[in-house]
Amino acid sequence: MSGSVQRILIANAKGGCGKSTVATNLASFYAAQGIGTALFDYDDQRSSTRWLSRRPSDKPAIHGVDASATSCLNVTRTWLLRVPENVERIIIDTPAGRKGDELIRQTKDINCIIVPVLPSPIDIQATADFIRDLLLLCKVRERHIKLAIIANRTRTNTLSFKALEKFLATLKIPVIARLRDTQQYTRAVEQGCGVHEIKSSHASRDVAHWNLLLNWLEAENNNQSEQTTHNHAQACIHT
Ligand SMILES: Nc1ncnc2c1ncn2[C@@H]1O[C@H](COP(=O)(O)OP(=O)(O)OP(=O)(O)O)[C@@H](O)[C@H]1O
Ligand SMILES: [Mg+2]
Repeated sequence: MSGSVQRILIANAKGGCGKSTVATNLASFYAAQGIGTALFDYDDQRSSTRWLSRRPSDKPAIHGVDASATSCLNVTRTWLLRVPENVERIIIDTPAGRKGDELIRQTKDINCIIVPVLPSPIDIQATADFIRDLLLLCKVRERHIKLAIIANRTRTNTLSFKALEKFLATLKIPVIARLRDTQQYTRAVEQGCGVHEIKSSHASRDVAHWNLLLNWLEAENNNQSEQTTHNHAQACIHT
């Protein structure tokens, strides 16, 4: 694992597509690998913050930041948003409806954006608009921010799944997981756990999806670090 801090934003303007589910699971998978992990919650519904408050004390710790509260507290925002020194991965859960300047601000200093999308025509349309904003408004490619999609609540052999696959094939963006529509996620959320932490013989397929997803993220992270080192070396040569 790379020692540099990686900020991973989970976002989609569409509500209910699985942002908090992805954020909480990702945080718990990183923590399970012994990586210092922080979970920032910018949504005043506080789903991720509540999930963290239910987390059993025998599970690997995650540093929680209720970032939605910072604007109404009489403390400086920078102080509240600070993370412990051992934190290497910052997972950021965001509210639905982010657009315009707010979205541009939210993508500041981000290394990777993960967009969950549901297999439904309304969600596909909203996600297409959101991705257009990320590309044209936030200029994520020019800023070398990695962009990836998670197809969520999928049921293979359904018409809606086929429509989603058709949409995903039109994008030049990696689809890093196709998560099943399963009660395992609801159970995990209730327990303050990730799907790998609940006692269930039915979750092994889901855990396998997450392991692949983490491999992709870490491989990209290593590429990015190598690129930075390479650029630094080039800069040294030219000075
Ligand atoms: N793969 C899945 N299988 C089954 N249920 C799921 C799955 N992913 C999410 N859910 C459920 O769908 C609902 C919405 O998920 P979630 O809260 O993660 O979405 P969200 O994008 O964070 O919503 P909001 O925009 O309101 O913040 C929750 O009840 C969650 O438990
Ligand atoms: Mg949410």
